Amino acid sequence: HLVCPMNTSPYVDPHKTSQEIWEEFSMSFTPAVREVVEFAKRIPGFRELIERDQVSLLKAGTFEVLMVRFASLFNMAERTVTFLSGKRYSLDMLRSMGAGELLTSMCEFSEKLAALRLDSDEMSLFTAVVLVSADRSGIQDLNSVEALQDKLIRALRNLVMQNHGADASTTFTKLLLKLPELRSLNNMHSEELLSFKVHP
Ligand code: HEM
Repeated sequence: HLVCPMNTSPYVDPHKTSQEIWEEFSMSFTPAVREVVEFAKRIPGFRELIERDQVSLLKAGTFEVLMVRFASLFNMAERTVTFLSGKRYSLDMLRSMGAGELLTSMCEFSEKLAALRLDSDEMSLFTAVVLVSADRSGIQDLNSVEALQDKLIRALRNLVMQNHGADASTTFTKLLLKLPELRSLNNMHSEELLSFKVHP
């Protein structure tokens, strides 16, 4: 089994070699990864960062951006996860195929994010904040990345303040608290990915 929803289905053909399984899986997730790159290029100020830092932020932050973008694949009312093919699988079924604590944490994250009821502009701006807040190890021009992060966080704050009435401050605080949660999901997910690479 390959229980990542970025695959088309959790089932893998037992006749396929691990290289074939990876090739098929890559075809499924690559368009989504390309869209993250295209999205990054449209963040005002991102292309003005030095190229090395653009690459470092994308390497560290792509999973987190995708997690936010695809949070709606996790349907907690129905206890299902929709894979990129559009097929839905129940949480119990995915657990029986080997998914564990990470699946549970992603479900909780998605449910709490949905509860904040962001509109599409807020969602885009939050996603931009997520990307420029990615792990800073290896960033060369920290000042420029931090200046861009500040600018985006201020814009997000203004937008949330305009849209969320009496809940605005708590909504904004909750959004910022999503950043460390995303980092932790990213770390747990990287471990799943690595161990899958070692024993597919
Ligand atoms: C697990 C790869 C993005 C959700 C995995 C596994 C791999 C993987 C190899 C281990 C599968 C197994 O052991 O059966 C990737 C790659 C991604 C990606 C290459 C880059 C595009 C994502 C995103 C999400 C996600 C964006 C969420 C929206 C999950 C979940 C699991 C998983 C829920 C199972 C966790 C568990 O075992 O509890 N991923 N993934 N992945 N991935 Fe991904």
